[in-house]
Amino acid sequence: MPTLKLLLLPGDGIGPEVCREVEKVIRCLEAAGIASFETETDLVGGAAYEAHGKPVADTTVALAHAADAVLFGAVGGPKWDRVAYESRPEAGLLRLRKDLGLFANLRPAICYPALADASSLRRELVEGLDLLIVRELTGGVYFGEPKEIVTLETGEKRAVDTQIYTTGEIKRIARVAFDLARTRRNKVSSAEKRNVMKSGVLWNEVVTRIHRDEFSEVELEHVLADNCAMQLVRRPKQYDVIVTDNLFGDILSDVGAMLTGSLGMLPSASLGSPDPATGRRPALYEPVHGSAPDIAGQGAANPLAMIGSLAMALRYSLNLGEAATALEEAVSRVLASGSRTRDIVAPGANPIGTGDMGDAVMAELRPALS
Ligand code: IPM
Ligand code: MG
Repeated sequence: MPTLKLLLLPGDGIGPEVCREVEKVIRCLEAAGIASFETETDLVGGAAYEAHGKPVADTTVALAHAADAVLFGAVGGPKWDRVAYESRPEAGLLRLRKDLGLFANLRPAICYPALADASSLRRELVEGLDLLIVRELTGGVYFGEPKEIVTLETGEKRAVDTQIYTTGEIKRIARVAFDLARTRRNKVSSAEKRNVMKSGVLWNEVVTRIHRDEFSEVELEHVLADNCAMQLVRRPKQYDVIVTDNLFGDILSDVGAMLTGSLGMLPSASLGSPDPATGRRPALYEPVHGSAPDIAGQGAANPLAMIGSLAMALRYSLNLGEAATALEEAVSRVLASGSRTRDIVAPGANPIGTGDMGDAVMAELRPALS
């Protein structure tokens, strides 16, 4: 049985609540003899700021480097609204992404048939939806310099963010998208704003070239990012893989999430480049939902995005694809049985809590593993 090293970073808000459920699932996998897990838990975000004045400690970043996979809850909350920009909880997550080189963010949006009525779109538009947003995660306007607010001679202020993409950054994310499309429905839609942005012009050129030279059997279409947002709510099932930059990916993936019924359903994987010596790839898995401070501490949060993130870790980092599928199928059966947390409950029905949802998933998972 392999021993796998996991770093758990529950963070803030509902992060610790949903992480507790994922820990239960980890113990369940262990009891079934799938793998043995060495787990360590540390602070991130506002919780880390309270403890050491920084949203992530250097020792935590070192632990993340050493882990086979990082499982990340959520960061942020109104409590830290006045914290200096450099120390805000989100900066902890951004530092982890940058330091670990997690350039490829995979955000699948799958609409379970049982949840089609929880979507804000009509059932026929979303039922059976299965799309994957591949978001570039370590470049673009999130990290481009200069990034500043300066005071002009007139006393007015000027804020600057900088959108930067190099050929190399675009190539490697395009390859990830095309590779994944080959395992799916073989179609990539590349979203940028080449009509307004130079970075969009280069993005378009490089994706076109990688397609022609290396992946010509995959279908490629280019779509302007604003049109992509519109198409996502108009006819989402036209998409298979969407590849896009850091900022557009942030926005489009929130739209993608809502198509599936709830932001509480969407897992994600953030992957770096494999180490040439060991082959190991740095990776962090997190639900797309945030810390949801409005419902934190009530035991009402939906743990399925976090549990789905563990499934992605099993598949992409731990080479346990079968266990990943078993876990995803367990989630699907729980939903089909009618169990719902508050965010996805049908009008008039009774929601269950975070812990009960975790237990329901395990009750379905255990027999599938034995
Ligand atoms: C996300 C989040 C983050 C982002 C925040 C918390 C910094 O919205 O992962 O989508 O903007 O990338
Ligand atoms: Mg976001």
